[in-house]
Amino acid sequence: MGSSVVFITGATSGFGRACAYRFADAGWSLIISGRRKSRLDELERELGARVPVHSIELDVRESDAITAAVTALPETFKRVTCLVNNAGLALGAGPAQESKLDDWHTMIDTNVTGLVNVTHALLPTLIESGAGASIVNLGSVAGQWPYPGSNVYGASKAFVKQFSLNLRCDLLGTGVRVTDIAPGMAESEFTLVRMGNDQNAYDRLYNDTTPLQPEDIAEQVFYVATLPAHININRLEVMPVRQAWQNFAVDRDT
Ligand SMILES: NC(=O)c1ccc[n+]([C@@H]2O[C@H](COP(=O)([O-])OP(=O)(O)OC[C@H]3O[C@@H](n4cnc5c(N)ncnc54)[C@H](OP(=O)(O)O)[C@@H]3O)[C@@H](O)[C@H]2O)c1
Repeated sequence: MGSSVVFITGATSGFGRACAYRFADAGWSLIISGRRKSRLDELERELGARVPVHSIELDVRESDAITAAVTALPETFKRVTCLVNNAGLALGAGPAQESKLDDWHTMIDTNVTGLVNVTHALLPTLIESGAGASIVNLGSVAGQWPYPGSNVYGASKAFVKQFSLNLRCDLLGTGVRVTDIAPGMAESEFTLVRMGNDQNAYDRLYNDTTPLQPEDIAEQVFYVATLPAHININRLEVMPVRQAWQNFAVDRDT
């Protein structure tokens, strides 16, 4: 019997990278994926000395490539115990009427279609793993709470929330758990990607407060994936203490 195997999408940065470290700390075998090969290579060099690591250069939008990569998994990585569907992004923070349609398509293709692609490809092995296996989807507070400029990003994360709950219904009896982890503000490249590499926007968001760190989320992911096999956390919303909601906005004449 080999070690447990975790398949992480978007392992080249932020939460996904922190998850690779967290699961490696516990001796899990890692399948790490993302588009940036140099980062995957670096991670494989760093963690490969401690645990078995298989890296896959993968764009989650490409369903045929995902199927091929899953089919070609080396024997010792074939039985996946946990899928961390983490790859995702936001593009832009302006109002819908000023957004680029291409950005909307990219968010839907990545956060919705990409997550569905990977899930579909790995469901057979997860079901084979059975009791104790998990799918941990990275949603967002944006999937539950509206805010200006969230438009398609938030809607894509609402999909993640509902898809996670619906999967629970279908997987009843298989032993496979499903969790939607929904973080609030967390410090990562996410904001550089969202704001077109604008370092000032990044600094404005994270300076003078205490955002979540990728390691905080990795700890939650590891927690839900290693609970006793009879427990399913359906949705876990995590915010920094220094983040909360504000009033409803009202349009007035004066
Ligand atoms: N940071 C936050 O405040 C926050 C809050 C709530 C939820 N989230 C969600 O948490 C997840 C991780 O975010 P993060 O903060 O860790 O952001 P991040 O540091 O920007 O990491 C995003 C990861 O997704 C990967 N990715 C993006 N597009 C991809 C594609 N088409 N195919 C494969 N991989 C792709 C990136 O890898 P490559 O570029 O190498 O492909 C990268 O590894 C996302 O789903 C995000 O929406 C973030």
